[in-house]
Amino acid sequence: MDTTEAFVGLDCVDCGERHDAATATHRCPDCGGILDPAYDYDAVDIDRATLAERPFETMWRYHELLPFPRDAAVSMDEGATQLVDCPTLADELGVGRVLIKDEGRNPTGTFKDRGQTVAVTAAVQHGADEVALASAGNAGQAASAYAARAGLDSNVFLPSRAGFTNKAMVNVHGGEMTVVGGRIGDAGAAYEDALAEHDDWYPLQTFVTPYRHEGKKTMLYEIVEQEDWEVPDAVVYPTGGGVGLVGMHKAATELRDLGLTDDLPAMYAAQASGCAPIVEAFEAGRERHEPVETPDTICGGIEIPDPGASPLILEALRESDGGAVATDDDEILASAITVAQEEGIEMGATCAAAASGAMELAEQGEFGPNATVVLLNTGAGNKDDDILRSHLMGQGV
Ligand SMILES: Cc1ncc(COP(=O)(O)O)c(C=O)c1O
Ligand SMILES: [Zn+2]
Repeated sequence: MDTTEAFVGLDCVDCGERHDAATATHRCPDCGGILDPAYDYDAVDIDRATLAERPFETMWRYHELLPFPRDAAVSMDEGATQLVDCPTLADELGVGRVLIKDEGRNPTGTFKDRGQTVAVTAAVQHGADEVALASAGNAGQAASAYAARAGLDSNVFLPSRAGFTNKAMVNVHGGEMTVVGGRIGDAGAAYEDALAEHDDWYPLQTFVTPYRHEGKKTMLYEIVEQEDWEVPDAVVYPTGGGVGLVGMHKAATELRDLGLTDDLPAMYAAQASGCAPIVEAFEAGRERHEPVETPDTICGGIEIPDPGASPLILEALRESDGGAVATDDDEILASAITVAQEEGIEMGATCAAAASGAMELAEQGEFGPNATVVLLNTGAGNKDDDILRSHLMGQGV
């Protein structure tokens, strides 16, 4: 296996055992727990000046803090997205600054590319020929693109509610697509049935592969570096499975422990009221969520009723002194339109939960008047143009 110098293996978040990444490919072989890439941070030779000399052109510029070296990566130069100042939004929220991390500028239009570049690289390193996953849509599109680039076959299970662009582009990338009637849980069940019949499939499911949250952590490295090493006060993230939130909190902790920063940003999970298991658990002071029985939101990416990594998400929110907020679909869609009309930035429907969540948090007095608040625009608005436009049409526009 071609790994980076400091990468020492995979630690189980449940039993604590460390495993060799060449043989442990997915969940903990001892207890089935989530595996998390581990590093010998004393062997990480990186400082602000070294990073400043590197061009800001791909997330692989942080390869010392990733499991695989840059020349082994299945990459399309993903990441290195812009952090855009939004002064009108800042006025509206009554804070110092609002910055939108615009992940729509990735190869397949979402932050899912950051997870797939690392997970598909791992698949290649493990000698896989065929990868598989169930997805609400964007991850499936990204997986089929990275699999195509690596010359692997991909099997993508999508719910019928997934967006047209996602379905079309899985086809365009040559992925084998199964569209399952219903929602993400139905697609997940069909995937599990098919996986049981195909022991050569290499799973790319979140927190089943240890590498998707690891790729997404680079969003936080970039934000901090783009802010000249000032840690923002708050990061608001549209949360489904919490992969990006857990990854970013890990990244913030790493930067602090490496002595590159002093603080952690407060992490906020933004969800839709129709499916808000993390918000409910956070408010009730619980360590784990209770599954939502009848999830219902138009924001497919965050309609995750049973997020298996909820203990990690809730720990990140509490450790960073952040929080959780739910807003209604109507408010979410309205905020996507506000951002498009006031700042020009195109937010996806799911992503706009970060904007409406931040507005709600601001109203609750959660942010100080000088706070810097970062919103994650996890995907491009044109993935959901039909949803956004029909919201307008529903208002007679
Ligand atoms: C655009 C978008 N934002 C956010 C999410 C939720 O991501 P996470 O699983 O990291 O919470 C998804 C997942 O499908 C998504 O597609
Ligand atoms: Zn374990």
